[in-house]
Amino acid sequence: RRHLQHEATPPSKIPEFAFAFDIDGVLVRSSDPLPRAHKALSYLQSQRIPFILLTNGGGKHESERVADLSSKLDIPLDTSMFVQSHTPFADMHEYKEKTVLVMGGDEDHCRIVAERYGFKTVVTPGDIFTAYPAVWPFSQQILEHYKSFSRPLPKPILPNEPENSLKIDAVFVYNDPRDWGLDIQILQDVLLSHQGILGTWSNKNGKSAYRNKGFQQDGQPPLYFSNPDLLWAAKYHLPRLGQGGFREAFEGVWAALTGGPSAGVELQKVVMGKPHEPTYRFAEKRLIAHRNDLNKGVGGELDLLKRVYMVGDNPESDILGGNSYKSPNGTDWASVLVQTGVYMEGTVPAHEPRMVVGDVYDAVQWAVAQEG
Ligand code: G3P
Ligand code: MG
Repeated sequence: RRHLQHEATPPSKIPEFAFAFDIDGVLVRSSDPLPRAHKALSYLQSQRIPFILLTNGGGKHESERVADLSSKLDIPLDTSMFVQSHTPFADMHEYKEKTVLVMGGDEDHCRIVAERYGFKTVVTPGDIFTAYPAVWPFSQQILEHYKSFSRPLPKPILPNEPENSLKIDAVFVYNDPRDWGLDIQILQDVLLSHQGILGTWSNKNGKSAYRNKGFQQDGQPPLYFSNPDLLWAAKYHLPRLGQGGFREAFEGVWAALTGGPSAGVELQKVVMGKPHEPTYRFAEKRLIAHRNDLNKGVGGELDLLKRVYMVGDNPESDILGGNSYKSPNGTDWASVLVQTGVYMEGTVPAHEPRMVVGDVYDAVQWAVAQEG
């Protein structure tokens, strides 16, 4: 196979193909860069082959994570080539003036991201727990930790004065919750409340509603998950539970409380992130814009983007998403599965990739050879 030579002079035109790289399990394992990630990306940059990073991860603002990854991988990166799980939340302007509950991530980093996206009133489970420690009896031993970064609630919880009580208008899970117990309890309180008013219990949501002849929502606030991953590749050698694990745990509690799907009480939710189509459409727009930017530096006619190689480690998100995405521009998305993350070498992947390779450098080598 052709070796990846850093040609002295990069091509005069931006090629007709590009890459979308998953991050965890492809470029890094938690904070450790994978051995040949730098080599793969620096080759692409030397050849003006466009790429973006497309991750179900998150937890910090795009600018922060990009700076972090850029130094870890020793590769110049900017936010125009970076899509993470909660990036699309920044465009959900209808909630910017409302009161939103933001869940997940370290301390209150995700609150800060939401505020940088323009959300004016952001509440976290830590804020509620700090204001009302009795809300979750089993996290008292880390109450001091929560106090160190929580903020006063915009309104108190007054069950007897619903009109003056804290009301949650929407819930966003930005990243993996750290305290599943507290977060499941708070999420249950919000979703089974009357109209999102904390401290109330609606007899119109959940099983009781079902017993009252039919499940009808009592203004249950919308619930957005940013990442479906049941498993992901962290530093440990075996895959770890991700945000999808938290959601499944919550769905178990929801079913026990309300009867759940088998009783016709489906949890009303929106799950975003790979493999879902809106995420790939969002990513393709970003990639095309980034490729156009690259071309500004070169000039001349830019041919249509013919193919995107989606390089990932998780068959359920990267490969399924890459295989099922139908580009409105007719761009062919070719999924490439690496063996440095969730996928275990020698097993049959749940979704058939265009190609299976060892690591990200092999993926680039194979794709470049395909393009001739
Ligand atoms: O929380 C991160 C994990 O879900 C996987 O991220 O980069 O493999 O899509 P990534
Ligand atoms: Mg991954």
